[in-house]
Amino acid sequence: MHQDFLTFLDFTQEQAKHLLEFAIDLKTHPEKYGKPLEGMAIVALFEKPSLRTRVTFDVGINQLGGHMVYVDSQGAELKKREDPKDVGNNLAQWAKAIVARVFSHETLQDLAAGSDVPVINALCDKFHPCQALADYISMQEHLGSVAGKTMAYVGDGNNVTHSLLILGILLGCHQVVVTPKGHDIAAQIKETVIDLAQAHNVKLTFTHQISDLQHCDVIYTDTWLSMGDDTPLADIKEKFMPYQVNEALVEQSNAKFVMHCQPAHRDLEITSSLMDSDKSLLMTQSSNRLHAQNAILSYLLAKPSLQS
Ligand code: CP
Ligand code: NVA
Repeated sequence: MHQDFLTFLDFTQEQAKHLLEFAIDLKTHPEKYGKPLEGMAIVALFEKPSLRTRVTFDVGINQLGGHMVYVDSQGAELKKREDPKDVGNNLAQWAKAIVARVFSHETLQDLAAGSDVPVINALCDKFHPCQALADYISMQEHLGSVAGKTMAYVGDGNNVTHSLLILGILLGCHQVVVTPKGHDIAAQIKETVIDLAQAHNVKLTFTHQISDLQHCDVIYTDTWLSMGDDTPLADIKEKFMPYQVNEALVEQSNAKFVMHCQPAHRDLEITSSLMDSDKSLLMTQSSNRLHAQNAILSYLLAKPSLQS
């Protein structure tokens, strides 16, 4: 039986905590774990552009002893050329895992259905779990813990928001989500995270009023227009500008740090000055993408002793 890594919704609280601790230990003491991917080929399939994800998977797979084969889809959706189930089945003949960045979550499910090697979600329309793990590693490193702290997400409710909420709740991190009206997170995921928060005794607040953000430990934001969204910036800029993460919002909320998964748009969703300030965790997050993914790959492909 292989295990895929498509969303943290498949994780228990114990597994999520274990993966976070394991990632930090692997980062700190890589020599303890040797080369768990020795001799393995991993395919990385991208339907969308990437800087951080592509490079960190390539560098990380190399560090773990394997090698990465990059496959792009010539900018087209995979399923236009071939059924993703068949793509998954073919890739599994040669590779020990498939890392995939796709437009639709269903494509990942189809790839996984066709393949008998693990499929790792490198971003889809619904989730970005590799990013969320890197972000909570960064929070743990800078705040000493994740449990009991408060993350405020400000901006467009999207794939990044969903994964931050799911993993954050599993790790005991309180959550505030501030979005403009009409840009809430997906309704089905909202229902799921409300239940999850209740089950784990985590405070979860959704609001459209930026003035409601009175206290948090970190403020997180992301692009107002995700990849694949062709809405002209001019059509949403006026609506989103009051939600910009800037110095006044940091002062209002007493946030210790600001976070952004990047690519960031200076002086739109976050001020350029905050990005470059000592409150910025952006490069820590970027650096931790490598360590998060090395942990995920080791967790899925290495000896069972690494798994809980
Ligand atoms: N944060 C992130 O996933 O960056 P890329 O789109 O550059 O991979
Ligand atoms: N929400 C963004 C994240 C980019 C890493 C997008 O999907 O484009």
